[in-house]
Amino acid sequence: MASVASLSASLQQRVSAALAAAVPSAADADPLLRRSDRADFQANGVLGLAKRAKANPRELAGQVLAALPADDVLAGAEVSGPGFLNLTVSDSAITANLAARAEDPRLGVPLAAEPGVTVIDYAQPNVAKEMHVGHLRSSVIGDAIAKILEFGGERVIRRHHIGDWGTNFGMLIQYLVEHPHELDHTESADADAGEASMSRLDRLYKGARTLFDADEGFKERSRRRVVDLQAGDPETSALWQQIVDESKIYFYSVYDKLDIDIEDADIVGESGYNDMLTETCDLLEKAGVAVWSNGALCVFFDDVKGKDGEPVPLIVRKADGGFGYAATDLSAVRNRTGDLHANTLLYVVDVRQALHFKMVFDTARRAGWLTDDVTARHLPFGTVLGPDGKPFKTRAGKSVRLEDLLDEAVERATAVVREKGEKIGLTDEEITANGRQVGIGAVKYADLSTSLGRDYVFDLDRMVSLNGDTSVYIQYAYARVKSIFRKGGGDLKPAPHPEVPLAQAERALGLHLDAFGDTLAEVATTYEPHRLASYLFQLASLFTTFYEQCPVLTAEGGAPQVENRLFLSDLTARTLHQGLVLLGIRTPDRL
Ligand code: ARG
Repeated sequence: MASVASLSASLQQRVSAALAAAVPSAADADPLLRRSDRADFQANGVLGLAKRAKANPRELAGQVLAALPADDVLAGAEVSGPGFLNLTVSDSAITANLAARAEDPRLGVPLAAEPGVTVIDYAQPNVAKEMHVGHLRSSVIGDAIAKILEFGGERVIRRHHIGDWGTNFGMLIQYLVEHPHELDHTESADADAGEASMSRLDRLYKGARTLFDADEGFKERSRRRVVDLQAGDPETSALWQQIVDESKIYFYSVYDKLDIDIEDADIVGESGYNDMLTETCDLLEKAGVAVWSNGALCVFFDDVKGKDGEPVPLIVRKADGGFGYAATDLSAVRNRTGDLHANTLLYVVDVRQALHFKMVFDTARRAGWLTDDVTARHLPFGTVLGPDGKPFKTRAGKSVRLEDLLDEAVERATAVVREKGEKIGLTDEEITANGRQVGIGAVKYADLSTSLGRDYVFDLDRMVSLNGDTSVYIQYAYARVKSIFRKGGGDLKPAPHPEVPLAQAERALGLHLDAFGDTLAEVATTYEPHRLASYLFQLASLFTTFYEQCPVLTAEGGAPQVENRLFLSDLTARTLHQGLVLLGIRTPDRL
């Protein structure tokens, strides 16, 4: 494995060196190199530098140009406008750099020099409850970020902080004690296992809730049951486990549909921190971070106030002695930094929990559980909206069932795939398999291509459209390359030829291919998967233009040009494939 520096990175280095040579005091100045339409790259850093050095920017730019080493990478360099540097790289440098990428199974993408340990908290549905679109976002975004970090060499520990604890469980377990057959499995041959589990849980939940609201005696017995659960009473624990297991059948069926791998060992829900809660509170109290207020153990913040101007505390222990969500999250921080030795903690959670995480992180810092060398970040995501622009709900005002949504996406996608698939002679099985990969890909892509904080409208028509910023469009570009090679019947040899001149569309495609590693590095530091999504969409678009403008098999330049174009096509397919894998999206060979 050999990592390859992008042309943009090597130019950046050279221009930096030239800047430093022209203005010795500017040794670490950023040349601000960007891709540009005028030339291949434009460096704007001279302007700021000239201002500081009180020099004429165009003159200074000229000096920088003169200091640039002459070699075969740079084909042209000129000063433009008030003092920009326009830089053009040679065709041969583009092809040679891509050739080095093609040699490497990682496409030349470097591994982090000093990888750390990241714990990422995502895909955290709640036991005995239906999953909703919010859980979809957390799962899809978290899965992509985890894969991208891992690809960069980071050690990633996944944590699915499922809601499997709390007072609700007293009610559910007590109901199960009094209605022992409620979760019995009946043999029904073709029923979807996940759906059957959810409907049993739903019945249990509704039954328990109704009784809880109507019957004081049951309410009291449920409260006592919570105490038994926290004390680890064996009968209570066994019933709790039964409810959790039932829910996992349902979760796994949804994740299976979503084509997301969840490992049982990574599911460490709220219950997993139960044994730490008392100690967490004691430590906070002893350190003076938390104080008793109105019977509850609270942490106060100078900058967190309610509408009335009164401070809003983080409650770690309630007045009734119970522990809340915050105590669990604080214990999880202790576990993740103290036991798992994480340097980075990520939480892919709805933006509505922003204040909660701010308070949890502040508290953990004061308590010393988060030190200066640990980064803790809440990656807040926005809301999925319905066609009416309001949070996505059914007509009856309930949240939309995730499984139904996914089924519908697959159905729509299959219709789209069928139309073309029949023309190219796909079998029914192939159409079904592709429909699933296209439909699920479309849902994930729509989510991932939206920048994290933004809301988006769940619009299936747009998501499965062949034209536009969709995964289907990208998948088609991939399949197109595959079809070129299929038609060649194994005789086509992609090979780079740096001596072959490149057409404009080839240069644009090539320079973009070369930026794959830089894009991934950016995503790994910003935690913004939409940057990878847009990179891939742009790659597919550039390939489409190349394909329209540059005949591959009938290239005028003869064998070397044919091979070079095959080489570009093949590297495009490999890059699209690798990028989509990191987003959790499949690439059917024939579409
Ligand atoms: N189960 C929660 C929910 O559905 C999300 C948990 C987020 N993670 C955490 N560590 N608090 O809203």
